[in-house]
Amino acid sequence: MKIAMIGTGYVGLVTGTCLAEFGHHVTCIDKVEEKINQLKNCRIPIYEPGLDALVNKNVSEGRLSFSTDMADAVPNAEAVLIAVGTPTSRRGDGYADLTYIYEASKEIARHLKGYTVIIDKSTVPVGTARQVERIIRTENPEADFDVASNPEFLREGAAISDFMRPDRVVIGISSEKAKQVLHEIYKPLYLRDTPIVSTTIETAELTKYAANAFLAVKISFINEIANVCESVGADISALAKAIGMDGRIGGKFLHPGPGYGGSCFPKDTLALMRIVQEHGENLRIVEAAVEVNAAQKARMVKKIRDMLGGSEAGKTLAVLGLTFKPETDDMREAPAVTILPALLEKGAHIKAHDPKGMQEAKKYLPPEIQYTASAYEACENADGVILMTEWNQYRALDLEKIKKNLKEPVFIDLRNVYEPERMKSLGFQYTGVGRK
Ligand SMILES: NC(=O)c1ccc[n+]([C@@H]2O[C@H](COP(=O)([O-])OP(=O)(O)OC[C@H]3O[C@@H](n4cnc5c(N)ncnc54)[C@H](O)[C@@H]3O)[C@@H](O)[C@H]2O)c1
Repeated sequence: MKIAMIGTGYVGLVTGTCLAEFGHHVTCIDKVEEKINQLKNCRIPIYEPGLDALVNKNVSEGRLSFSTDMADAVPNAEAVLIAVGTPTSRRGDGYADLTYIYEASKEIARHLKGYTVIIDKSTVPVGTARQVERIIRTENPEADFDVASNPEFLREGAAISDFMRPDRVVIGISSEKAKQVLHEIYKPLYLRDTPIVSTTIETAELTKYAANAFLAVKISFINEIANVCESVGADISALAKAIGMDGRIGGKFLHPGPGYGGSCFPKDTLALMRIVQEHGENLRIVEAAVEVNAAQKARMVKKIRDMLGGSEAGKTLAVLGLTFKPETDDMREAPAVTILPALLEKGAHIKAHDPKGMQEAKKYLPPEIQYTASAYEACENADGVILMTEWNQYRALDLEKIKKNLKEPVFIDLRNVYEPERMKSLGFQYTGVGRK
């Protein structure tokens, strides 16, 4: 099958490459020329484990190509997937900004030839597919097409395996013809008995938001319980393990930390609240999760300040990990983006290290942050170290060396990577989240 992928970011590039791996002929299109030039020169503009090898394999086998011009791929495509960004609106009202979706739809319309299914992979408010349909119909009244919704659930850092072996695929369609095309696209997954939920377009659109909102609620819930643990002298690790063993609750997403971030949960929870309010409904539980998340980040600033004896002014802090989670270079809404400026404003100096995210981090963080070549270098002469993101290489630190490099043995573990007893026996003044 010939497929055009519009938008070659974290989702579009992974999805396009995996569809090529399924055997389809895929052209990934992006309007950012630099990105496409890099890809044409076998350089991957993002960090996603395993992606470089898979891109290069499919390019060399002739199934994957890149372009800035829709005319190169849309006219021949049987399916056009839209994976452009849907960030929070710059107006600051929480709505999803659909400008990129609408612009892409207009341009797609001009290039359509023969029956084509336009498949929305971006996370979009209910009703967007109908708008896309209207835009295409207005722009090109002759076009023969259907619009479908196929939200993406992959996680950055595990994106390839998530796409290749998803828990489920959700397909929102309004015609049998479109259903056949989607069936053909995902044939390898049908053959592997992957659960496929076929539903209406509106249900598919809302499913994605509901899934992300539920996960955000789960994280905020465990963060609040962790805070209670700190007050009553209980231990969140044992508690989370115990409740997670209940099959109705499940053990995933029960890790307390500095608050959720990333390119999805923050924007999607806000957008969902707006969608719901527009329909005269409320989602108070999601509103609470969003508030709790903001408070958790502020709480981390206080936790750090307390560990420094009440003031960060003039103190040097080593920060290990900047990205919103390990195994990605994505800095969008990372907790570091909120927490570090708050510390800098009060006079802290920051030396930071991240295995893959430092280049991206420079776009999101104040310029006075000093970046170091290793975790150990960040700790040299620092008044404390903050473990912000649980990259694997920070799970096996040479703690003696860290302690030797630090001016003060203060270890603030915002991901509960280390055991409090062990850290204390090594002579650290240690704190985690939700533990004695
Ligand atoms: N990142 C994730 O983990 C994830 C997971 C599931 C769903 N999603 C959703 O998928 C969508 C894309 O997210 P992302 O993280 O890949 O975004 P991204 O910002 O990494 O990529 C979007 C790309 O689209 C390109 N683009 C914008 N307008 C275009 C146009 N008219 N023509 C061609 N290219 C255009 C941009 O240049 C950019 O490269 C969002 O709606 C997001 O919510 C993201």
